[in-house]
Amino acid sequence: MKRIVVTGGLGYIGSHTVVELQLAGFEVIIIDNLSNSSKDVLKGIVNITQKEPTFVELDLRDKQATISFFTKYDNIDGIIHFAASKAVGESVVNPLLYYENNVTTLITILQQIQKKENIPFIFSSSCTVYGQAEQMPIPENAPIQQAYSPYGNTKQIGEEILLDTTKAVNGLQVISLRYFNPIGAHPTAEIGELPIGVPQNLVPFITQTAIGLRKELAVFGNDYPTKDGTCIRDYIHVVDLAKAHVIALKRLLSKTNTESFEVFNIGTGKGSSVLEVIESFERVSKQKLNYSITSRREGDVVAAYANTTKANTILGWRAISSLDEAMLSAWNWEQKIRKTN
Ligand code: NAD
Ligand code: WQD
Repeated sequence: MKRIVVTGGLGYIGSHTVVELQLAGFEVIIIDNLSNSSKDVLKGIVNITQKEPTFVELDLRDKQATISFFTKYDNIDGIIHFAASKAVGESVVNPLLYYENNVTTLITILQQIQKKENIPFIFSSSCTVYGQAEQMPIPENAPIQQAYSPYGNTKQIGEEILLDTTKAVNGLQVISLRYFNPIGAHPTAEIGELPIGVPQNLVPFITQTAIGLRKELAVFGNDYPTKDGTCIRDYIHVVDLAKAHVIALKRLLSKTNTESFEVFNIGTGKGSSVLEVIESFERVSKQKLNYSITSRREGDVVAAYANTTKANTILGWRAISSLDEAMLSAWNWEQKIRKTN
């Protein structure tokens, strides 16, 4: 059985990916420092898969502890690296935290695995690297724009580090997946997104408003040059996104990749406006959402949705869940966690 290390495997996207890896027959070793997750997530993973992954509580900023980990687990077959800090606003206030947690930790891991032969490496990148792209849907070869935030910059730098390292280290094979907007939860409602404090992202803000934790959703601007004036994004069900990691990993394990560093957009290819997301929520939850239109949020791009041709044709992956299915899963998850907490 192939052993895969998943950093940040108790987080939102990581936990869904651990589930898909275990269902696909991989053995998983999770590294997480619980800075943005909890050990309870393990129970959800076990309830879905009937299998407990190995969990190692470790802060990847601790270089010695990370070296010890890779010395202990010296026979691994792949790494999926999710662990990072991801709050755009916080990264503006505390950039060094972001450069340390997102860039230094990547370097530490690469230093360890470059000593080993041929370990496939999957990196969590983001559509944020495109900024406001001129071409829509956005292809992978669209120009990378100057990052708006230190967080976005850590993803650009991460990709550059990986590209340079694959050129220099024989046998290192990397796939960078540029996620668009992940939403939703596992259909069993055993795992999902658990934002700490006030959610910055649209969908958890919607579900928390509907459950009564927030008074109303502020829609950030309706004067954009779009069909209804609100911004357009590509909202992808987190389970579809998780499955893309398993497929990318299999590509590297079977050595069908053509280059040592490949980049794929992971989105649905469909753009939805903020108002369409609200309509979808109201449809599946059968209730009206309390919202009002406010001013624009600084830094928001007008539109971003993926050209997914490369992932469709080369990976043989495509998103299958609809926006309604994703919104229903997010709503079921919200109701479940508020009942149990
Ligand atoms: P998350 O915060 O839910 O998960 C990250 C996990 O990493 C958490 O469990 C956290 O405790 C852990 N972690 C953070 N720093 C660590 C460290 N130093 N050592 C060990 N563990 C550490 O985030 P997520 O939404 O699941 O995102 C996963 C990855 O995908 C991140 O790299 C993020 O930048 C990227 N990404 C996320 C989105 C999104 O909208 N959620 C979009 C594009 C890219
Ligand atoms: C979506 C839309 C808002 C909240 C962020 C990161 C990006 C990536 C994905 C990691 C926008 C609108 C939102 C609210 C609103 N993450 N909105 N009211 O900004 O596309 O991307 O997450 O890599 O880097 O920047 O996602 O969910 O914050 O916003 O009207 O309370 O919803 O203006 O149009 P975004 P989001």
